[in-house]
Order: sequence, then C-alpha cells, then structure tokens
Amino acid sequence: MKNSVETIAVLTSGGDAPGMNAAIRAIVRKAIVNGLKVKGIKKGYAGLLNEEIIDMEKKDVSDTIQRGGTILGTARCPEFKEEEVQEKAAQILKSYGIEGLVVIGGDGSYRGAQALARHGINTVGIPGTIDLDIACTDYTIGFDTAVNTAMQAIDKVRDTSSSHERCSIIEVMGRNAGYIALWCGVANGAEDILIPEKYDFNEQNIINSIIANRKRGKTHHIIINAEGIGHSTSMARRIEAATGMETRATILGYMQRGGSPTATDRFYASMMGAYAVELLCEGKTKRVVGYRNGEFVDYDIEEALAMEKQIPEYQYRIARELSM
Ligand code: ADP
Ligand code: F6P
Repeated sequence: MKNSVETIAVLTSGGDAPGMNAAIRAIVRKAIVNGLKVKGIKKGYAGLLNEEIIDMEKKDVSDTIQRGGTILGTARCPEFKEEEVQEKAAQILKSYGIEGLVVIGGDGSYRGAQALARHGINTVGIPGTIDLDIACTDYTIGFDTAVNTAMQAIDKVRDTSSSHERCSIIEVMGRNAGYIALWCGVANGAEDILIPEKYDFNEQNIINSIIANRKRGKTHHIIINAEGIGHSTSMARRIEAATGMETRATILGYMQRGGSPTATDRFYASMMGAYAVELLCEGKTKRVVGYRNGEFVDYDIEEALAMEKQIPEYQYRIARELSM
C-alpha cells in the first residue's frame, strides 16, 4: 500500500527521559524500512523555529539505544503557545517537505502537536516523561528507568539512615504527580509515602508514626516525599524538633532523569516509535500512542488530553497498608 506521506520528522520536547533515544532510533529505522525520508529536529519546538533540521540515516541512530537523554536535544519553548508562532512552525516544516511529525514528550508537547495538526501537518505524539502523568497510557517512556534509579539511590540513603538511627525524607521527582513516589515507597519499603494526589498536610500523623515506630524499636524512618509536595528540608526541621529523632532531607533531583534506559524503557519506546510511523504512513494525524491493558493503542490528541489520570486506589491503599 502506498504511504500517505513521503517525508516525516521527529523531535523531543519537554524534559528528557531515558528511552527517548530508543524511540528516535525506532522512528528512523521504521521510516526507512517503509520507504520514507526522515529528518530530526533538534531542541524541540525551539529548534524547529530556528530551523535546526537534519537528515537522518540509519547510521545516525546506531549505538544510541543504550544512551540516556535525547540525541536530538530538547527544550521548553513557551512562545509555542502563540498562534502565529505555530503557523510559522508549520510553514517551516512544509518548506522542508515535512508532511508528518512525531513529537516525543508530555501533555504540553502534545498541545504543540495538536496546533501543528490544525495547520496541516500530520502529527503523532509519543508519551515521553519520567512522571507517568499522561492519562491515556499506562506507560510513559523513562518512568521505569527513573523509578529504578531512584529506588537504588534510596536504598543507599537507607543504609546510612539506619546506621545513624535517623529519619530520612527523600524527595523524588514527578512534577504534580506522585507515581515515582508511590512506586519507590513500595519498592523501598518506606514508612511513609507522601504524594500530592492524597496528601492532607497533616504532619502530626507522620510525627505520631515516627514516635510509635521508635517505641517499637525501629532504628530508622524513611519518608518518600513527592516533588509536588516539596518543602522536604523545612519538613525535616519540623519533624526533628517534634520527635527528637535526627532528620535529614535528600532531594534526588536530576540524577533520576539521566542514565542508561532499562530494558522495559528500550522495548516499549521502540514499539511506540514504530507504531507512530505506521500511523503516519496510514495518513493518520492528531493522534497519540499509548499502552493500555497490554496493548499499543492510539487516541485523538484532544480525547487524550481530556482524560484524567488518577492514582489507582488499590495501589495506594496497599502501599499504605504495607508501610504500616
Ligand atoms: P511536557 O511536554 O513534558 O508536558 P511542557 O509542559 O514543558 O512539557 O511542554 C513542552 C513544550 O510544549 C513547551 O515548552 C511548549 O513549547 C509546548 N507547549 C506546551 N503547552 C503548549 C500549548 N498549550 N500550546 C502549544 N504548545 C505548547
Ligand atoms: O517532567 C519531568 C520533570 O523532571 C519533572 O519531574 C520535574 O518537575 C520537571 O521535569 C523539571 O523540569 P526542568 O528540567 O525544567 O527543571
């Protein structure tokens, strides 16, 4: 069957995430397999506006699947919300003969793709964010690596916390979402898990649980705090004052976003990249790729953006019960 487009491009936008390179590699290779020309746009929408557009061949993605970050670079580009800027970007794409664009990023990046679709560019989004905060998909590229990186770091903090009989508050990323915190809370066996979706700002509960645990002879207390709640350092000062237990805050920060992607991130990113190219070949536009109930699926961007993501109640309840 004849492809609906001849030339496509790929860009990464928003925060980088481990596995983005696996997706880029899959897009380039699948495009070539399907007889398309493929270009890379550097530094997200900002690079598009600066016409940082390069041809991509098979060799350009060799030796990249194991690398963290994004070989294309990424950026935030606030002016892309403006109608005339979006129109200019679509004109640039057309002047390079680009008919289809794959955008790897989060919800914000999808809105940019939606705008380009309105201006006649066929667009497909792929979920690339460590935060797992995209409603239409059970999986986002980078989450698995980030959560494993955070888990390993927290294990290390726990060693020193136990040795000194301290309380440790460890802050993990996730923007306004608590998925990294929830997963680490379970995987690291934390005593308290604080996530923005459920936090009641009642520190007295935490203080009571530290005092009760100490009475039972527990020598450390690990609190996983999500970035969306934040204030870990001042929280540590207040908890130390109220409990008498030495308390330290550790903010894991950007180390969670870097590093070589896990097999899961490489695999799903590869499948999603190829899936996005197939959609463009079929003439589809304004779609996003997701992974739901064991299958790769796609949705209209508008429909996807209207979906709301909730922390699964069962997972949260069990996480709390196990932390006791
Ligand atoms: P993410 O894609 O991870 O959600 P951001 O929210 O920072 O990250 O969005 C990434 C980029 O997408 C922004 O810097 C901007 O260029 C573009 N973008 C965000 N929101 C919109 C919007 N409403 N309309 C058009 N483009 C947008
Ligand atoms: O979206 C990924 C993420 O790392 C969030 O967890 C965090 O809130 C944000 O990006 C930080 O963004 P920046 O790189 O702009 O500081």
